[in-house]
Order: sequence, then C-alpha cells, then structure tokens
Amino acid sequence: MTKTILRALNGEVLPTPPIWMMRQAGRYLPEYRATRAQAGDFLSLCYNPELAAEVTLQPIRRYGFDAAILFADILLLPQALGADLWFSTGEGPRLSTITDMAGVQALKPVGAIHDTLSPIYETVRILARELPGETTLIGFAGAPWTVATYMVAGRGTPDQAPAHLLKDTDRPAFQALIDRITEGTIEYLSMQVQAGAEVIKLFDSWAGSLKGQDFTDFAVKPAATIIAALKARHPGLPIIAFPREGGEGYIGFARATGADCVAIDNSVTPEWAAEHVQVTGCVQGNLAPHHMVEGGPALDDAARRVVKAFGKGPHIFNLGHGITPEANPDNVQRMIDVVREGAA
Ligand code: CP3
Repeated sequence: MTKTILRALNGEVLPTPPIWMMRQAGRYLPEYRATRAQAGDFLSLCYNPELAAEVTLQPIRRYGFDAAILFADILLLPQALGADLWFSTGEGPRLSTITDMAGVQALKPVGAIHDTLSPIYETVRILARELPGETTLIGFAGAPWTVATYMVAGRGTPDQAPAHLLKDTDRPAFQALIDRITEGTIEYLSMQVQAGAEVIKLFDSWAGSLKGQDFTDFAVKPAATIIAALKARHPGLPIIAFPREGGEGYIGFARATGADCVAIDNSVTPEWAAEHVQVTGCVQGNLAPHHMVEGGPALDDAARRVVKAFGKGPHIFNLGHGITPEANPDNVQRMIDVVREGAA
C-alpha cells in the first residue's frame, strides 16, 4: 500500500491526515541531546552519516511519525560552495559574508559541492535502508532567497536587511548569487533523490520579507526553476514548498511553482488557508509551535481545529514552523493522539 504522505501529496483526502513535525529531531528530545554530545558540535553531527541517521530515526521510534526528514541543515550548501560556516553556541549560525560580484565569483563551481556534501548522501542511503516500510523519507534544502539572506549577512537577521540592500543596490551581483544557489540546490537535491529521498521540501523561511515583484522574482521564480529541473530529472517526484509568512503570496503559489504541496505557517488561520490555498491541492500545517511548550486543552482545541479546517482536502498535519527546544515531548505525543484518534 502506498505510504500515507505520498497519497496526500497525490491529492487524496485521507480520513486521518498523515503527520510529521518540522525540527522533529532536535533539542527538545533527550536522546537527540545525548547523540549530539557524542558527535561534538552540530556540524560534526550533520556530517557524521551514522549519527545523523540515528537522530533522524529517534522521533520515528518514539512517535511513529509518517515521515522522517533527513537530519542536515540548509546552510551546508553555502559551506559546500565555499563559505566559511560555524555555529556559535546560543547565537545561531555564522558565515563569511558576500557583499559584491567578486564575492559571488569567488564561490566554488556547482560541480564541486559533492566533495563536501557526500556524507549527507550517505545519511540518506542509510535511512532509505533502515526506515520502517510505512515511513516516507523527506530530503530538503533552503530556497535560494533564504539561503542568500544568510550568505549576505553572515548570520540570521530579524529583517534580512543586508540581503535587501544588496538586492536593491547591486542587482547583477544579487541575481548572480541567487542563480548560483539555485543551480547548487538542483544538484544537491537531485543527489538526495538518487540516494533515496522520496519527497523534497524547499524551506523559504524568510519569504515573508519579499513584497510585490520581489516575491515573484526571488521566491516564486527560483522555486519554479528548481522544481521544474527536479521533476524533469525525477519524473513524479513530489515537492513541498514552504514560503513562510508569504501571506497573500500563498495564493496560487503551488500553480506558479509546480509544487505538489504548500506548507502553511501559523500567521494565517487554517480556515483561510483551506479556502485560498488548499483549493489548488495538498497543504501541510499549521499548528502553532508554542502549543508544544504549553500543552493542555488549548493544544487539543488547536490541533482539532487544524484537522477540521483542512478535512475536506488533501492535508499533511504539521506545525507552522519548527518545534522549539523548550517543547515538552509529552505534548508532541498528545498532539499525535488528538490527530490520529481524536483523543478525548
Ligand atoms: O527538521 C528537522 O528535524 C531536520 C533538520 C533541520 C535542521 N535545520 C536541523 C537543525 C532542518 C530541515 C533545518 C532547516 C533550517 N536550518 C532552516 C529552515 C527552516 C526554519 O526553521 O525556518 C533554517 C533557517 C536553518 C538555519 C539554522 N540552523 C539556524 C538559524 C539554526 C540556529 C537556530 C537554532 O534553532 O538554534 C540552525 C541550527 C539547527 N539546525 C539545529 C537543528 C536541530 C539546532 C542546532 C543544535 O543542535 O544546536
């Protein structure tokens, strides 16, 4: 029997939505913290295929999610393209910055990325072997705009101002950067699929800061290019796009990019997304992650509301963004019970 997530991505309306969770392998789980301590730091964990496969499997063993997402990070591609990357504790990622055309030209050619990324493909191969037969394996990358925001600023920023500045003052350099990331992403994801990833997700976490024509040029167009190239190479490959906080940009996003499913964040209501986004196909989302910290009756109510709002069309249950380190693992189980059994 076809896996539930693949059925939903194919447009089927299931009696119970399949479920997985963004950042489901992460610091809220004691077993993740233990394996991470064994690996040393976060990047060593990403590049250690046995341990990265182990942390990918941990939430599957504990909760029986319908999908496993490869354990890696969207910033490994910039590193493979030649950026320096490190994670300073408590402060998030740091990278060398790109501020002009010379910086873009100094990046490595796209063909060189596999030298750095080959351990990730090995993680995928291990997972394809070890996952339970009913669990779908999701590979992923960052979308070009989001990856570019980190490469230009050298860090996460609240408003992505450095990337906006480069975009608005040196369009050729910014476009060259977007193009290089787009090409690298196609090669990276294609190798994940060859290694055994069954579904691909593109994370555009900062899509919401692109307005008007910029949204079309830097959220829609690069996603459409990547999706078309992947589908040409891997016919039938299902792809989930996540233009986070895209607002009105969510409307028609699937059609404009060729994505099979659009992941919805929790800045919009599930009723709005059902009416305006689910009409064109499968959606994923969108329980607010704070419920995984707080739990209680509000969690039950909010989870039921998401299931009900999306119940008439194809739907994959998920959070609206990644689970946070403060989350209580018991609340995750409660969410699953409510979604799968309507738990009273
Ligand atoms: O979802 C999963 O379980 C799969 C693995 C995964 C990670 N990052 C592991 C991770 C995925 C899919 C990502 C995507 C990612 N990484 C995004 C897009 C999704 C989103 O959350 O918006 C972004 C923007 C990044 C970049 C990144 N990586 C940041 C900003 C940080 C630091 C912030 C933080 O949460 O600490 C990371 C680190 C990171 N990536 C962790 C994990 C489990 C925490 C690192 C640790 O163990 O210390």
